Amino acid sequence: MDISIVGSGYVGLVTGACFADVGHHVICVDNDQRKIAALQSGRIPIYEPGLQEVVHRNVSSHRLRFTRDIKDGVDNSQIIFIAVPTPPQSDGSVDLTYIEQVAREISEVLTDYRVIVDKSTVPVKTGEKVADTIRRYNKIRVSFDVVSNPEFLREGSAVADLMNPDRIVIGSNSDRALALMKKVYEPFMAPILVTDVKSAELIKHAANSFLALKISYINAISTICETSGADVEQVAEGIGTDKRIGRSFLSAGLGYGGSCFPKDVAAFLAISAQLGAPFPLLKEVERINTNQRTRFVHKIKDTLWILKNKRIAVWGLTFKPDTDDVRCSVAVEVVNDLLREGAMVYAYDPRGMDNVEELGLCKGLNLVKSPLEAVREAEALILATEWKEFHRVDLEETRRVMQTPIVFDGRNFFDPQTMKAVGFQYYGIGR
Ligand code: UGA
Repeated sequence: MDISIVGSGYVGLVTGACFADVGHHVICVDNDQRKIAALQSGRIPIYEPGLQEVVHRNVSSHRLRFTRDIKDGVDNSQIIFIAVPTPPQSDGSVDLTYIEQVAREISEVLTDYRVIVDKSTVPVKTGEKVADTIRRYNKIRVSFDVVSNPEFLREGSAVADLMNPDRIVIGSNSDRALALMKKVYEPFMAPILVTDVKSAELIKHAANSFLALKISYINAISTICETSGADVEQVAEGIGTDKRIGRSFLSAGLGYGGSCFPKDVAAFLAISAQLGAPFPLLKEVERINTNQRTRFVHKIKDTLWILKNKRIAVWGLTFKPDTDDVRCSVAVEVVNDLLREGAMVYAYDPRGMDNVEELGLCKGLNLVKSPLEAVREAEALILATEWKEFHRVDLEETRRVMQTPIVFDGRNFFDPQTMKAVGFQYYGIGR
């Protein structure tokens, strides 16, 4: 199939590269000149395991190319995916400016039947608006179909998620479009769920909000565990082995962050209210999520008493491991809480430090080159993101170089017994 993807961010780039890898011919379009120039010269603007190899392989075999020219993309493909950002607005609702702009740009160069697919995360009924826009701006009344095809890939495992999906959701009200979409996904050999456009749009927000709810649920239980003396890890195991519940997304910790869950929960709240069907359960999900971080910082203050001028080490800054993404990272928020208290914070992250610096997210934070450098002379260590690399750090050495060996484990990453045996004063979440 000949496919173009408008927007070469996380979703667009990974989707384009993986589509090319299964044999399609893909044109990635983006209006960011610097990004396109970087991609054309083989540089990948984001860190995502495996992505660079897939991009290079498919560029070399001429199945993947990059351009700024949307007409080139529209002329030379049967299907056009829209994968541009849908950023949040101050009231939680979604800013759809980029979607509307791309819909207009497509319609202005559309001369023959095309399927236009919404891949970006959008509120229910956006497909209707996209179709209206294309109809309004297309002078020659070309026929087209608008399809919704939400993505479920996670940063850090995006390539693997895309290549081996649990399911593919295609929301289409047209048989012609559906037949073409099925051809796109045939090589993935995954179950395809066909729905109407609105249901597909809703599936995306409902899925992310449900996963966020699962996290807040186990985090609320972690508080009960702390006050009662139970162990949240054992409780998660005990409920998660019930197939109806499932163990995934039941890891208690500092709460969810990143560019998806916080934004999508807020957006779902805003949309449901706009539709006259408010969803207050999700307000509680948000409240528990914020509370989880606040409680953690309280625990640190309670133990260390005064934070001013205390040297505190932080391991991990990204919103989750295996990514360089620090947007809406809870680790970054914890660092800023400590800096506001006057602490001297020394942080190390395997991939996220450049972004923290470039985006100016933590004024006054000291970024260091290794986990051991961070803990030298520290009065406490905070584990904020569970990078596997931290398992390789020598714990005896860590304890030896710290001024006072106190560990606050925000992701239940360490084994409490081992930590105590090494000589740490150890605090986990809900255990
Ligand atoms: C999420 C969804 O998992 C994807 O299916 C979806 O496609 C994506 O959003 C999106 O909408 O684009 P992502 O945000 O990349 O993916 O990462 P997750 O692995 O879902 O983690 C999100 C946050 O939840 C992280 O901060 C993570 O630390 C936290 N989390 C996750 C927990 O606190 N506990 C858990 O048990 C799982």
